[in-house]
Amino acid sequence: MPLVSMRQLLDEAAKGGYGVGAFNVNDMEQIQAIMMAAKETRSPVIVQASRGARQFAEDLYLFRLIQAAAELNPEIPIAMHQDHGNSFETCKSAIALGYTSVMMDGSLKEDGKTPSSFEENVDVTRRVVDYAHERGVTVEGEIGVLGGVEDGHGAGGSGLDHITDPDQAVEFAEKTGVDALAIAIGTSHGAYKFTKKPDGSVLKMDVLIAIHKRLPHTHLVMHGSSSVPKDLQDEINKDGGKLNETWGVPVEEIQLGIRNGVRKINVDTDNRLAITGAIRKVFAETPEKFDPRDYLKPAREAMKKVVALRMTQFGQAGHAGDYAPIPITEIAKGYANGTLSTQPLVAAK
Ligand code: G3H
Ligand code: 13P
Ligand code: ZN
Repeated sequence: MPLVSMRQLLDEAAKGGYGVGAFNVNDMEQIQAIMMAAKETRSPVIVQASRGARQFAEDLYLFRLIQAAAELNPEIPIAMHQDHGNSFETCKSAIALGYTSVMMDGSLKEDGKTPSSFEENVDVTRRVVDYAHERGVTVEGEIGVLGGVEDGHGAGGSGLDHITDPDQAVEFAEKTGVDALAIAIGTSHGAYKFTKKPDGSVLKMDVLIAIHKRLPHTHLVMHGSSSVPKDLQDEINKDGGKLNETWGVPVEEIQLGIRNGVRKINVDTDNRLAITGAIRKVFAETPEKFDPRDYLKPAREAMKKVVALRMTQFGQAGHAGDYAPIPITEIAKGYANGTLSTQPLVAAK
């Protein structure tokens, strides 16, 4: 099956009332782990690469691996997504490679650190939407700013610093025509999100629900949505790791989000933890081993387990065969004749 439009995946998820995990990849083993989980749970899936991942894997290696995943798993709809594009040029280069979806994260300036103005964000996102939709490619935008810094990307600080204003979210969706909207509700990238199990004072599900009420047809995206489970933290620390105690986003809060318009859930950290824990275990228990396959295989298996669990918890499991993929050229026509582009522009009064 060719790579699928992320918009189609999310529209189907909205119809079915479920969410779709978007999992970050940097290498072959991570892609294989996701595909093993998708196959086992019969899930449609979003695979995403950050700018750092594209650089690490030299772009073409990574994209060819995704193409191999699509060829080897024809029954699984896969959307390939640029995570946190920092500029028009970054999104354009992903589209040139064949990505079927891009995130233009105009909440930050091109340096990926400094919060931008609302007008700057609208301007660059609108330009990416025009360019991408002409080519049938999906666009995710972001309004509000997440906390934390990952690989040099992020404003730093707490997740509470730039919570999304629902009025601005409506104006942003109307002015840009994005297919999916990432909002800031108190989460951060990375392992250190909360110092205790989050409650409504730090994880603003009420803001998410308010935005969904105003934009009932816009697919909402939760970033920084790793749950950072204690067992994965313990696994790392048991074998010589040094993670400080921390909390992520509880799965039941994500499920509340899914009941309120969240269709894309970004998860990277949980997989990083699972991989690292598995590798540490092999090193600690069998220090005589040195064949990379001896630790990459359990690492891949550990990530697969996490991804399969999230696919089940988000509700995408079992939905891989629900629909036939619409060719990207047809999707482009849908944007051009208005059947696709008008939907997210309708705000509720
Ligand atoms: O956006 C955050 C993702 O976890 C990707 O992180 O930029 O370190 O690849 P990265
Ligand atoms: P986590 O760091 O919580 O996994 O978030 C990943 C993310 O939002 C990628 O864009
Ligand atoms: Zn993110």
